[in-house]
Amino acid sequence: MNSDLRETTGASAVGVKLDGINLSFGKTHVLKGIELQIEPGEFFAFLGPSGCGKTTLLRLIAGFESAQEGRVIIGDQEVSHLPPWRRNLGMVFQNYALWPHMTVRKNVAFGLEERRVPRNEIKERVDLALELVGLLEFARRRPSQLSGGQQQRVALARTIVIEPKVLLLDEPLSNLDAKLRVQMRRELRQLQRKLSLTTIFVTHDQEEANTTADRIAVINDGVVQQIGTPMELYDRPANLFVANFLGVANVVEGVMAEDDGRLEFNSSDGAVTVPMATGQQGPGSIVFRPQNLSIRPRDAAPLPGTTQLNGTVEHKEFLGSVVRYRVAVGGHLILVDASYQRGEEAMPEGTPVTLCLNNDQVIGLI
Ligand SMILES: Nc1ncnc2c1ncn2[C@@H]1O[C@H](COP(=O)(O)OP(=O)(O)O)[C@@H](O)[C@H]1O
Ligand SMILES: [Mg+2]
Repeated sequence: MNSDLRETTGASAVGVKLDGINLSFGKTHVLKGIELQIEPGEFFAFLGPSGCGKTTLLRLIAGFESAQEGRVIIGDQEVSHLPPWRRNLGMVFQNYALWPHMTVRKNVAFGLEERRVPRNEIKERVDLALELVGLLEFARRRPSQLSGGQQQRVALARTIVIEPKVLLLDEPLSNLDAKLRVQMRRELRQLQRKLSLTTIFVTHDQEEANTTADRIAVINDGVVQQIGTPMELYDRPANLFVANFLGVANVVEGVMAEDDGRLEFNSSDGAVTVPMATGQQGPGSIVFRPQNLSIRPRDAAPLPGTTQLNGTVEHKEFLGSVVRYRVAVGGHLILVDASYQRGEEAMPEGTPVTLCLNNDQVIGLI
């Protein structure tokens, strides 16, 4: 049933290219040298903390902002100087603002009526869009008679019905409660796949980005920090910002140095020494995740391929699937996750322990 929409969008999915974007509001330099290439049909996320420039970048693509420098290219057309209505993009905002006095059908039809699409075609396209978001049976209701998730789906239907070249979503799920957010992000992803519609999704929530996006651009302070798939960013963060923003990270500062022809990391206080497979010499940091260590009673036999770190349990948190320990090792507090099985005893605070850190999981950053 959705074959029409898929043909109109999927077959003609376009890429988006941002080339050397610099944008300032007055003296505030908000977007700094942005270079990005989004592939046709890709689900791409802009991920970063509040105020880093995500919305500004999305609005620039949509044509609601203009940059002092750089080009926006959609498909093979430069659109930098086109007004929003000539770009044929669909944007869904955090505050999706449906018309309260109109039925669902009217809300979705509105954009087509404005474009003076013939009546019978409007009916067909609205039916299709409502069916795609699973709301055909609610067509005659008003927004106030729908749940938050359903209202969000109306906003989506209203946007895809105009068959935009690119779908732009600015934190579209943030007004929903936690459970609904999880459900809606799955639905969004499925819908995007069905339509193979190039989609840019703005979020400050790393889990939301990880679970929906093919690739993510991590942004901080108007600068793209790194672009990659969720796993690439998690496994090979380019810097400490990315390491910390995507998941929980232990960071230890120190120096990489060669010893006997082997590269080794030493923390500034000498408490942490780890062999490094590759890397440059000089001051730097190591990063490792809580699941890269196991926690054992002090002086248990060492596990092969690991570095032993002696410490004391300072705090523990029961998170359900794991117990997360905070262990003092010299002057460092190291987070360690131990998977939890029913009936197990957690180690009490104050227990002397040995942490076994998997050497090949340690990321070196200069
Ligand atoms: N119209 C505007 N005039 C002046 N400053 C703005 C304007 N819009 C956004 N900013 C500033 O630009 C920065 C980036 O904002 P925004 O793109 O909304 O960030 P995000 O969406 O990542 O939270 C912020 O410092 C914000 O205060
Ligand atoms: Mg924003």
